[in-house]
Amino acid sequence: MADRPDTVAAVDSQALTQEALAAVAAASTLSGLDDARVKYLGRKSELKLALRDVRDRETGMALNAARQAIEQAVEAREAELERAEIDRKLQTEPVDVTLPAELLGPLRLRRRGSLHPSTQARRDVEDIFTGLGYEVVDDREVETVRYNFDALGFPPWHPARSPRATLFLDDDTVLRTETSPAQIHKMEAQTPPIYMVSIGRVYRRDTIDATHFPIFHQFEGLAIDKGITMADLKGTLLYVMRALFGEEVDARFRTHYFPFTEPSMEPDVSCFVCGGSGCATCKHSGWIELGGSGMVDPYLYEFVGWDPDEYTGFAFGLGIERTAQLRHNIDSLRPFWENDLRFLRQF
Ligand code: DAH
Repeated sequence: MADRPDTVAAVDSQALTQEALAAVAAASTLSGLDDARVKYLGRKSELKLALRDVRDRETGMALNAARQAIEQAVEAREAELERAEIDRKLQTEPVDVTLPAELLGPLRLRRRGSLHPSTQARRDVEDIFTGLGYEVVDDREVETVRYNFDALGFPPWHPARSPRATLFLDDDTVLRTETSPAQIHKMEAQTPPIYMVSIGRVYRRDTIDATHFPIFHQFEGLAIDKGITMADLKGTLLYVMRALFGEEVDARFRTHYFPFTEPSMEPDVSCFVCGGSGCATCKHSGWIELGGSGMVDPYLYEFVGWDPDEYTGFAFGLGIERTAQLRHNIDSLRPFWENDLRFLRQF
């Protein structure tokens, strides 16, 4: 039919098809192709006008066949040109996939922040003690001399009471030098059983060097109940050490003195760097000092008005930065407070 031009009255569908296909093939850009589409298939195209006026079946079929052929050609050419456009972009705007993402300008990725190593250690401590059923307490940093020293059994001559050692706000008020006053506040607020851990900043009048900084964090544990013994203290601290430093570590306890515990012990963890054979971290002793601990001195029960024969308990105070230093092998306290992103991004 389409090849019988005599049956087509007004439009030579065959010639029109050929002309259209040639125009489509010649279009070298997507917009050029669109021009051809409008010209040969648009509402005002010769073909559309002829189709609207068609009177007989044969002409209709011929014109529809022409329309289909042109439509298919346009689609095929469009796909071709789109592919060519992608190829061209890949050639002229290459993306170096080996570049670090932050250098890619518009594609820049947002760098995710990371938790400060102190915060990580603090959260781990919170998790460990929450798992043991302890209450996590956030206590005050500004203390009276009464809670920071008197209640804890510091004798009047104790060097920690000196303004050379402690930051006084006035004669009677200090920035707490340890988290231990939290024990007294807890004992005043609650009757046994008490299982709490208080984590927070403490302040000392130290000159800054690798091992001293005037602010640091401690965590203070307190357990008071009927029948608590030193075995409970040792077992609890061994459990905490293993949770913080690895299942293979051991604990050792050396006798010591603290005004608020009797007896008092300093807990050491076996060196997890060298396994005990001796290295710089453990100062070639095989053991690492962690802080202080002991059985709550009966003086404290009397201070809050309890019968010292009814309850026993243990307490301990360990350092958060010290924990983080040991876990990450950081040899100075300074970077914990310098906010240098090159340090912080490593954790
Ligand atoms: N408060 C002590 C310090 O800062 C550490 C400490 C020792 C805390 C013994 C305790 C304890 O709870 O029982 O050096």
